Amino acid sequence: MRNHSIALLPGDGIGVDVIQEGKKVLEVASQLDGGFTISFESFDWGCEYYSKHGKMMPDDGLDQLKQFDSIYLGAVGFPGVPDHVSLWGLLLPIRRHFQQYINIRPVKLLRGIPSPLANRTQTDLDFIVIRENNEGEYSNIGGRMYEGTSQDMAIQASVFTRQGVEKVLRYAYQVAQKSGKRKRITAATKSNGITYTMPFWDEYIQKINAEFPDIETSIIHIDALCSFFVTKPDSFDVVVASNLFGDILTDLGAGIIGGMGIAPSANINPEKKFPSMFEPVHGSAPDIAGKGIANPIASIWCASMMLEHLGELDAAHAIMEAMQDVLEERKFVTPDLGGIASTEEVGNAICKRLYESMR
Ligand code: NAD
Ligand code: IPM
Ligand code: MN
Repeated sequence: MRNHSIALLPGDGIGVDVIQEGKKVLEVASQLDGGFTISFESFDWGCEYYSKHGKMMPDDGLDQLKQFDSIYLGAVGFPGVPDHVSLWGLLLPIRRHFQQYINIRPVKLLRGIPSPLANRTQTDLDFIVIRENNEGEYSNIGGRMYEGTSQDMAIQASVFTRQGVEKVLRYAYQVAQKSGKRKRITAATKSNGITYTMPFWDEYIQKINAEFPDIETSIIHIDALCSFFVTKPDSFDVVVASNLFGDILTDLGAGIIGGMGIAPSANINPEKKFPSMFEPVHGSAPDIAGKGIANPIASIWCASMMLEHLGELDAAHAIMEAMQDVLEERKFVTPDLGGIASTEEVGNAICKRLYESMR
């Protein structure tokens, strides 16, 4: 029997609640499928760990994670620890060390969720954002000068490499080629205002596009693209973007499919040399943490993406169906979607539905 080893990193705030529900769903799916087992190991790394140890994870944390098939993460960051300390102490090192340079973020309206955009249905809202996940605007290069004087200033470099840009673009074109949909790439840019990195990015788009002549390509400024996410979401198939542009676009993407509680994300190391990591797009939501009302849908969707990545296609599909059946029934939905159910009640309802459908 196949076994998949999963490192659980619930992290901070609502990360803990939503990962608990996702884990339950994964357990039920593996038991019912019968073809595979999952072994979990949980790690208590995050902001609480930081307050005790002065670091977000142990010094050999990345070594400990390396042996797992996948990493399933909740959220990192909480008031009390500066965000750049918590995120650069745990989440971002994992993405980089394990060369998870592809970040897949589906923008797809689920069955049972009314679209926040008027008169839009599931067929209008169904595309994928592929975000460059290892370089670009997220760099540690820069500095602060003349602090405490009237000349106080900060500089932050963006670093785009040929290898990094080509890899994410080629991956995006391959996804578009397999999409069976419109076979269209939309690339985010800002070459009107950003004079070195964005023309560089555009140049490589043209180059990689030449390798895929059957794919239609549009290069659109990030500001206009934000507007088109709202006004013509049906025009997209695969959207490819730099690290920061992809980050911002995918919170907008979450907004148009029902909110932050829905959107999933997969940090992929395509070579499978290292574990990939699955985590919701959202953060630790300090405003609702501890209330038991966080929406677990994004995390449960991530659990399905993780099983798909591990080759368990039937179980992955069954989770998506059970989740959408529960959403459609509207009996167990969390307050962000207009319901009154708790995180746990939604998780339980999905487990029950999964049990009924797979038994
Ligand atoms: P956030 O995503 O945590 O919250 C934004 C808003 O969305 C809040 O109103 C929150 O209540 C709501 N929300 C988020 N997830 C929800 C869910 N599952 N159900 C219902 N409502 C939900 O973003 P933020 O407030 O900017 O960040 C809070 C902390 O999380 C910060 O420390 C930030 O750096 C961190 N963060 C971490 C990750 C990550 O670990 N991947 C992602 C984003 C933000
Ligand atoms: C995300 C988050 C992270 C990012 C932050 C917390 C560093 O916003 O995963 O979308 O910007 O990548
Ligand atoms: Mn983000």
